[in-house]
Amino acid sequence: MGWNSWNAFGTKLDEQTLLEVADVMVDRGLLTAGYDYFVIDDGWQHATRVGGRLVPDPDRFPSGMDWLGDQIRQRGLRLGLYLTPGRRTCAEIYEGYGLGSGLGSYGHEAQDLEQLLGWGVELLKYDWCRGDSCGTGINERAAFTKMAELIDQAPTDMIYSISEYGGSRPWEWAPGVAHMWRTTLDLSPRWWHILWHAHRTQRWSPVSRPGAVNDPDMLVAGLGSITGPAAWSHVAMWAMLAAPLFAGNDLCKSDGATIKALCDPTLISLAQDPLVSAGQIIARRPGLDVWERRTKSGRARLIVNQLPVAQSVSLDRWGRDGWRVRTHEGEGAFSTRLRLPGRGSVLLLEANLGQ
Ligand code: GLA
Repeated sequence: MGWNSWNAFGTKLDEQTLLEVADVMVDRGLLTAGYDYFVIDDGWQHATRVGGRLVPDPDRFPSGMDWLGDQIRQRGLRLGLYLTPGRRTCAEIYEGYGLGSGLGSYGHEAQDLEQLLGWGVELLKYDWCRGDSCGTGINERAAFTKMAELIDQAPTDMIYSISEYGGSRPWEWAPGVAHMWRTTLDLSPRWWHILWHAHRTQRWSPVSRPGAVNDPDMLVAGLGSITGPAAWSHVAMWAMLAAPLFAGNDLCKSDGATIKALCDPTLISLAQDPLVSAGQIIARRPGLDVWERRTKSGRARLIVNQLPVAQSVSLDRWGRDGWRVRTHEGEGAFSTRLRLPGRGSVLLLEANLGQ
């Protein structure tokens, strides 16, 4: 769990802005809720390597990465950083971001990892982004495994988060190589896109196990129109998927409903359940999905209203008296029917998970 800079800031990063977010993570209770990794995505680098080494952009990070890492750790957070296995990062490739050149780790893998370890980095996001372009001759599995081997030999532990958007079917080879692997292209803050990512990712739920999970991408709660019941449903679907929870909005400007959804203790207990048994959709009705996930304390079921308008759902079909009932508004009593707001959900729990 943590926060990642990409969805809110892209490459418009600087140390001051980042520390303001880190402060808010502490002040608004995200750290206490479990969001402890602070991941600086693409855009932290200076336009070129200096003496072969990656360095942070000196205008935007005048105090340097050692200092920033210390600041992050002083707040109780852990630093994460972004690299790519090819010759270029995504922001180098795509127009408009204006990043420099030659910032990929191809041929610099050990050196770049050592650099990150020197800064106390505890999570590596390693992002494919056409790693096979510019004549590298590498493929996803080989490139990500190479870095995994280097991380294994490192003196300190590191979370290894890989991102190749599902192109090489990482759910077949990445368990045991990485802790988390992306299953899809980037998630945008649109409701139908959240549903699409969730529907696609649940197909590979059976491979999830402790230390190896599908990653349908960082959360978009608090971005675009994703707030209120939709934000809660989004976090709830990611929790059913046993997916990593990385908030991606500008927490300094976040509305209270988004923070409440991100920090919902029941959703976090579900997401972090030690069985790491990811859920799947067990029934589809017009405009409704019913999910089921096994937890150490029993079954969890989530009924999601896909529609933008309210719908009445029957709970006694999916749970029974005595089961806990939870929505974006909090705890409720079991009843035979419940009116779900547009894009709202209800979580039914067989036992007292996270109470
Ligand atoms: C890709 C990844 C994103 C982000 C950007 C950075 O698009 O999927 O999550 O890391 O690159 O450029």
